[in-house]
Amino acid sequence: MHNILKVQAPAKVNLSLEVLGKRPDGYHELRTIMQAVDLRDTLRIRPRQDGRISLSCDLDGVPEGEGNLVVQAAKLLKDEYQVSRGVDIDLRKKIPAGAGLGGGSSDCAATLRALNVLWELDLDAEELERLAGRLGSDIPFFVRGGTAVCTGRGEKVEPLPTDANLYYAIVLPDFPVSTATVYACCRDSLTMTDRGYKNIKEGVRQGNPELIGTSLFNALQEAACRQHPRLAHIQARIDNLAPGTRSYGHLLCGSGSSIFVLHASQKNAERAARMLHETLGVRCETAASLPDWGLSGLLEREDSTRC
Ligand code: C5P
Repeated sequence: MHNILKVQAPAKVNLSLEVLGKRPDGYHELRTIMQAVDLRDTLRIRPRQDGRISLSCDLDGVPEGEGNLVVQAAKLLKDEYQVSRGVDIDLRKKIPAGAGLGGGSSDCAATLRALNVLWELDLDAEELERLAGRLGSDIPFFVRGGTAVCTGRGEKVEPLPTDANLYYAIVLPDFPVSTATVYACCRDSLTMTDRGYKNIKEGVRQGNPELIGTSLFNALQEAACRQHPRLAHIQARIDNLAPGTRSYGHLLCGSGSSIFVLHASQKNAERAARMLHETLGVRCETAASLPDWGLSGLLEREDSTRC
């Protein structure tokens, strides 16, 4: 019996993140290039007839009630489309919380995509992105993934075509960063030069890590490092190791705490992750860029007897 829907929820990195200004609603106007990568969480969703939504998670500290965006996503769909059925959701986390990798947002978008199929709602990408934007700023990006320029609060998604195969060593410090706190003390406006932005877009289009590497930009970097000086210290160590890791640059992911190091091959990314782990004594993962998965990608029916 194929009654469980398994869905993957990949992480993202920001190849650029510009703060264009402060908005009247308290948010910041952004322009950011996001790229999905194959470090991912997995959700298994099992239908239940009594209308209840339940969530269990294998990682301590992750809320399992209304405080989790996964539960909020299921409730939003239930309310908007008068769904009487419920679900049990099992969430297995690989993406740490508070790392700037969009883990919670991706779990949320994966739930929207999976329930769209399970509850036969037949919503298109635009509608799912609209609902996703009500739940959080970077959730719409994860509806289709791939590589995109995101503007507004981050919720306006414009796909950026690319053939790029990029690889990352991702340093995951053992402390979370509060996105709200970093935004609260970042500069009101911090943007790239026109040339820098043109270069990074062109680098992404060509899949040219050298061009991307010279234009990496994150406006939140300064505020995040001021709050967590260890982030600056880790990046200085990454710089020292750069000649031996064959990397094309590094950057804070979103508001941190994770930092990616850009590579042109899986082999070099793995080597760098090993070196960084040995030197810094923190968790390091490798990840590769992922293409757009479309509405029904990364979804799989699973036999409940195998679980
Ligand atoms: O939208 P989301 O809940 O992910 O945002 C978390 C927090 O980050 C917001 O409450 C806000 O303080 C800050 N933020 C912002 N400008 C954005 C996105 C997020 O100030 N564009």
